[in-house]
Amino acid sequence: MDLVVIGEGGHSKVIKDLIHSKSDVKIIAILDDKYDELTVINEIYIGPTSSAHLLLSQRNHLKFVIAIGNNEVRKSIVTKLGLAKENYVSLIHHTAIVSSSASIGNGTVIMANTIVSADTCVGDHVIINSGAIVEHDNHIGDYAHIAPKATLTGSVIVKEGTMIGAGATVIPGKSIGEWAIIGAGATVISDIPTNSTAVGTPAKIISSRKFA
Ligand SMILES: CC(C)(COP(=O)(O)OP(=O)(O)OC[C@H]1O[C@@H](n2cnc3c(N)ncnc32)[C@H](O)[C@@H]1OP(=O)(O)O)[C@@H](O)C(=O)NCCC(=O)NCCS
Repeated sequence: MDLVVIGEGGHSKVIKDLIHSKSDVKIIAILDDKYDELTVINEIYIGPTSSAHLLLSQRNHLKFVIAIGNNEVRKSIVTKLGLAKENYVSLIHHTAIVSSSASIGNGTVIMANTIVSADTCVGDHVIINSGAIVEHDNHIGDYAHIAPKATLTGSVIVKEGTMIGAGATVIPGKSIGEWAIIGAGATVISDIPTNSTAVGTPAKIISSRKFA
């Protein structure tokens, strides 16, 4: 598979490691808006994100992944590019354990040493980060990020754009609203409303924000 990686920050380093562990995936381009024009360096195209359409017009089998950790930025790039859903590929590290009854959306990345258990449904452009445990029957909305070592214990609903911080735990059956942020190490024992930030054990809301 010929792959275009969009984004060249810290998160993309982890995604590149994942890709390099796969013999059937080859990075042919890295696009980031820190670049002004499309060039070729060491046989890899380097250029701004707007080059995606040109590359796709030359090779219509190309696949894309947005390698950007910030959920809002990831969504804004998907919206700006307007590529078809099928142009995005999901990438799963070879050490991840993903149930055959789980569903994984387009553009979603599942990092090393993760577990995605039975009947869990993961949306598009989600990050299941290193060591996260996503137990059975969870529903994770598009653009969410389950940070390293976070745990969704089962039947948890994580809505669009939500960030579950590193090492946080959500007890069974709780719901986290759109674009909420759960602090690192939190223990969520109640539903968390849309756009809220909650921290601590048990998690308490410390702020609410408007999503532009
Ligand atoms: C929750 C979080 C987003 C808050 O960030 P922030 O809005 O900048 O908040 P602040 O740092 O100003 O902290 C506000 C208050 O919450 C407390 N707080 C912040 N994060 C906390 C956490 N994870 N657990 C407990 N308390 C926390 C602070 O001590 C501070 O308390 P105070 O008002 O009594 O001094 C951030 O601290 C966090 O935990 N992010 C998750 C990072 C992560 O897991 N990244 C994964 C990358 S792969």
